[in-house]
Amino acid sequence: MTEEELKTFIQEVYAQKAVQSEQFYPYCFAPKSALGAFAETEAMGYSRDELESIPNESVMGLGCGNPIAWAETKADDLVIDVGSGGGMDVFLASQKVGPKGKVIGIDITEEMVSKARTTAAHYGYKNVEFRLGGIEDISFESNSVDHIISNCTINLSPNKTKVLKEMFRVLKPGGKIVICDNVLEEPLEVNREDNLDAWTDCIAGALIKQEYVSAIAEAGFVDVAIVAEQEFNAGEKDIPVNVLSVTIKALKPRI
Ligand SMILES: C[S@@+](CC[C@H](N)C(=O)[O-])C[C@H]1O[C@@H](n2cnc3c(N)ncnc32)[C@H](O)[C@@H]1O
Repeated sequence: MTEEELKTFIQEVYAQKAVQSEQFYPYCFAPKSALGAFAETEAMGYSRDELESIPNESVMGLGCGNPIAWAETKADDLVIDVGSGGGMDVFLASQKVGPKGKVIGIDITEEMVSKARTTAAHYGYKNVEFRLGGIEDISFESNSVDHIISNCTINLSPNKTKVLKEMFRVLKPGGKIVICDNVLEEPLEVNREDNLDAWTDCIAGALIKQEYVSAIAEAGFVDVAIVAEQEFNAGEKDIPVNVLSVTIKALKPRI
């Protein structure tokens, strides 16, 4: 299977999640399923207050940490979220950057982008934008972004080295990244073709913890640190190795 075929499969799976979630999120009344996603999302490190301050529709239970809790974003910043899904972290970051700042979510799945745009328009967000695109080629000028956040997405990419290099390129010197992602404690000896479901479940594409830290440093970042770590809740899935959700912070040097 080529990288492009894998990405197409990932898009199909996440398109389905976006479309199915719409059935549970009719506007104007509290959907039962949102309560489930709220509980899962709280378990990943979000406070109830944070979740109640953003649209219910964006809380889909697809993340594996809370990048905003570590992002140190300020008023007027330009922030991008790589793999923004329903927009949960974009809406949270929008509160921090204020009316003169901007938060831009990038996602490869058209249905996710469309869902996030609909939510933003419905609630009248003015400082957010959602763009369709792969995070292997981020369509931003070099040295133009203050912060980059990402939640449970880089593990899905078949070319993580390229993603990290792109993040480094577009970030301003002195800018920070906060990545929440799944990592493995030991190798999962699987064949990608036979394990597409495990890949889209954010497991088969995950790197070994130390390899991830090294890959971030090799992309040029400094002060790479794991600041939070917890067991990944794989539900009823039987996974032969230990999967952790980690939050990693790093800095682009000022030169
Ligand atoms: C597990 S979901 C997480 C969504 C969101 N960050 C959250 O925490 O709710 C992963 C998202 O990444 C997107 N994605 C997967 N591979 C991607 C890629 N190569 N480039 C851009 N987005 C990608 C998917 O479409 C999906 O919306």
